[in-house]
Amino acid sequence: MIFLALTIYTNQISEVLMNHIQGSLIHEGKAKRVFACENPNRVLIEFKNDATAFNAKKRSEIDGKGRLNCKISAALFKLLELNGIPTHFLELQSETFMIADKINVIPLEVVIRNIATGSLCRETPINQGTILNPPLLDYYYKDDELGDPILTEKRLKLLDLISTSQIEEVETITRSVNKILKEYFDDLDLLLVDFKLEFGFNSLGKIVIADEISPDNCRFWDKTNSDPKGRILDKDRFRQDLGGVIDAYEEILKRIEKDSSNAS
Ligand code: TMP
Repeated sequence: MIFLALTIYTNQISEVLMNHIQGSLIHEGKAKRVFACENPNRVLIEFKNDATAFNAKKRSEIDGKGRLNCKISAALFKLLELNGIPTHFLELQSETFMIADKINVIPLEVVIRNIATGSLCRETPINQGTILNPPLLDYYYKDDELGDPILTEKRLKLLDLISTSQIEEVETITRSVNKILKEYFDDLDLLLVDFKLEFGFNSLGKIVIADEISPDNCRFWDKTNSDPKGRILDKDRFRQDLGGVIDAYEEILKRIEKDSSNAS
């Protein structure tokens, strides 16, 4: 039985390899690998089990994380596409691989916060849990060696990575995504505390959301749990050594899947 299951699994993997991976690894990041496809405008993205924090100073491997982040990201990208938000996502290829547009990555991390926590509270006197209305949107320059520094508006313009109108477009998309996801998760009894988006240009030169949307780059608090540590259902469990990382990620996927089965 186990052998049969393994054979089916192995066949699935080789089908993925035969049909969609040309063999060339384009890029390996901390949590994902990007492979070329037969179609030059597409890539295959593999979600790894590696977990890192504090610019990879803290590292671990968490069994099952890649699968969960891949499935959660796919579900959220689909939700955004249904709401008219352009993303790089095309199709889920397997439990840990997705097919996406090949993009030119814009080296920016766009963080939007609904509730104050994390670096905002470490770096300013703003109290934990302060409601941020309107949500606070900040840009960080994506460069591990520089420690992803926060950018002022003037520094962002000085860097000239994208035009002023493209900055406005990125901001409009990020605020729309926040509105859509905040309402969506609220119905799943989850507070969307904050999250980070990355963007790129697809082959048509259009700005699309890239990377992933998962508990690795979002903070979720369980509305049904008032314990400040117990309610955390995201990578803060790893960052703060709280344990139960996979259980938390499973819970997010479970609520998303329950919602989609109710909808169909
Ligand atoms: P921060 O409070 O540590 O600045 O994080 C804000 C949000 O951005 C949080 O949801 C986690 C996410 N994030 C990333 O996805 N990658 C990063 O490198 C960092 C620092 C934060």
